[in-house]
Amino acid sequence: MRASEQFVERYYTDDLAEQESPESKWAAQWAKEVRGSCVLNAACGPQLFNDALAFAETPRHLVGIDANATNIEFLKESELPDILKAKKFLAEHDVNVHLLLNDVREHNPALRRHFDTVYVSGLIGSFDEADTRATLRMLSAYLKPGGRLVIVSWAEDYLSKAKLEERRRYHWYERRDFSPTDIHKLLRVEGFEVLKHDAYRPDNPREYEWGLIYGIVANKPT
Ligand SMILES: C[S@@+](CC[C@H](N)C(=O)[O-])C[C@H]1O[C@@H](n2cnc3c(N)ncnc32)[C@H](O)[C@@H]1O
Repeated sequence: MRASEQFVERYYTDDLAEQESPESKWAAQWAKEVRGSCVLNAACGPQLFNDALAFAETPRHLVGIDANATNIEFLKESELPDILKAKKFLAEHDVNVHLLLNDVREHNPALRRHFDTVYVSGLIGSFDEADTRATLRMLSAYLKPGGRLVIVSWAEDYLSKAKLEERRRYHWYERRDFSPTDIHKLLRVEGFEVLKHDAYRPDNPREYEWGLIYGIVANKPT
């Protein structure tokens, strides 16, 4: 899959421009749940480097997976000041970064039992049930026993027809009717224990384009 360069760059800059909004601040608190020296950011999009700056601890090894080649190229090549600043910070802290063009539903044996935390923002809830379960199973396989999965997701969208079509075309987002409770159930079916969860309803969902944001921290038992 390949989104246009303009789409990826706009997605990245819009996200940064919203950083001080109550919604973004609420969502960002979940990044503080990410800890440990080996971290996987699954479906990282163009935010891989910026997300890492918000983690509770700076990891030694950071892996970003995304199925969209334009995201991987953007992360490698973009010279936007915020990307360069984040990359510089990670380099100064000796963070080993790997970028993988990979579908999260497909098993990558090299990642097995490798990570202290898997962070997945903006993906869970946009697949059907079978693919959500396959994704959770893969992410569980990549965690060390006792590792944690940190989920942040947006739901109940108010995207225009054109925006939704564009996101569908790029396999970026699909409208589904999963609730956080449905996701908790699937997490349990896949062997996770939910440690912490919360949800936030924006005051002006039509303007914000989302009616619900939720976060979940789950544990892979030892
Ligand atoms: C809504 S964006 C979220 C990006 C970023 N994590 C964030 O929080 O803004 C969804 C991301 O999931 C990626 N994605 C969608 N399906 C995927 C799949 N099957 N495997 C890996 N990445 C996928 C898209 O390419 C896109 O980068």
